[in-house]
Amino acid sequence: MVPRRDLPARLLHRRELSPTVYAVTFRLEGPFHRPAAGQFVMLGAPGLGRPFWRRAFSPAAYRRGELELMIRQVGSGTAYWRNAPAGTPATLLGPLGNGFGIAAGGGRIAAVAGGIGLPPLLMALEEAARHGREADLFQGAATAGELLEPERCREMARGTDGEFVATTDDGSAGEAGFVTDALERRLARRSYGLVLACGPLPMLRALARICRERGIEGRFAMEERMACGVGVCLGCVVPRAGGGHARVCADGPVFGAHDLDWEAMA
Ligand SMILES: Cc1cc2nc3c(=O)[nH]c(=O)nc-3n(C[C@H](O)[C@H](O)[C@H](O)COP(=O)(O)OP(=O)(O)OC[C@H]3O[C@@H](n4cnc5c(N)ncnc54)[C@H](O)[C@@H]3O)c2cc1C
Ligand code: FES
Repeated sequence: MVPRRDLPARLLHRRELSPTVYAVTFRLEGPFHRPAAGQFVMLGAPGLGRPFWRRAFSPAAYRRGELELMIRQVGSGTAYWRNAPAGTPATLLGPLGNGFGIAAGGGRIAAVAGGIGLPPLLMALEEAARHGREADLFQGAATAGELLEPERCREMARGTDGEFVATTDDGSAGEAGFVTDALERRLARRSYGLVLACGPLPMLRALARICRERGIEGRFAMEERMACGVGVCLGCVVPRAGGGHARVCADGPVFGAHDLDWEAMA
């Protein structure tokens, strides 16, 4: 049972990964369950005094009580940790949500990350390696400067006997074009049993179409805006295929490629 209370934590260190993204590592100062790939945590800063200040992030790694997050700076909550000195206290609620549910068997995995969607897929590659599954990691970025941790990605894919494929929209690094085009090129010569993904909506929509056309199972982590993070406020609802709505925080954040109405999402 995951504790439904904030755990104290402390900022250990921070690294810049690109002009807009940085990685932060926190030391947990209490008992914390190892997050599964695709689960998320609500990160808060005690003392700021604003309601619902916590922000949702997907862990990129967890080892011996240290949790790494990758954060793209978009507003005040994500700017806070870019300037906070080492030792700054934090709170962490989680791990929350359902995760990708990676198990042994079931064929080769294609793990597809768009932009800041990378962290849950890094965790997914760790799990794939533990379960003896081959996994190719695809990372799409707008430009070479926005590719996150390419060497680490290459090493992690190699750890599963898989390939790392980087793509950039402007062709400044890796393969030119969208990450979904790179996946389709691989699909012409190898088969996958499972597509895992996290990234912008147009990418997930295109992947849902690819999965549907080729009969491949897809599990996609959503990064909708969240408020409470625990199923109460309905601030995170998305349309289900066939009608009704799902809460990303409580029913996800991972959904089957065929479970949501991707075309109806703005
Ligand atoms: C399950 C889950 C996992 C996530 N994992 C990560 C992660 O690993 N790394 C990461 O950097 N971010 C992640 N996010 C997104 C992150 O939670 C938001 O970017 C963050 O809450 C924004 O807080 P803020 O105070 O900086 O921005 P705000 O001040 O709240 O908003 C500033 C601007 O950012 C936009 N914005 C806010 N939230 C989002 C969002 N979810 N997606 C797109 N635009 C948004 C707003 O519309 C506004 O334009 C995740 C979200 C969810 C739900
Ligand atoms: S964020 Fe409140 S219900 Fe999902």
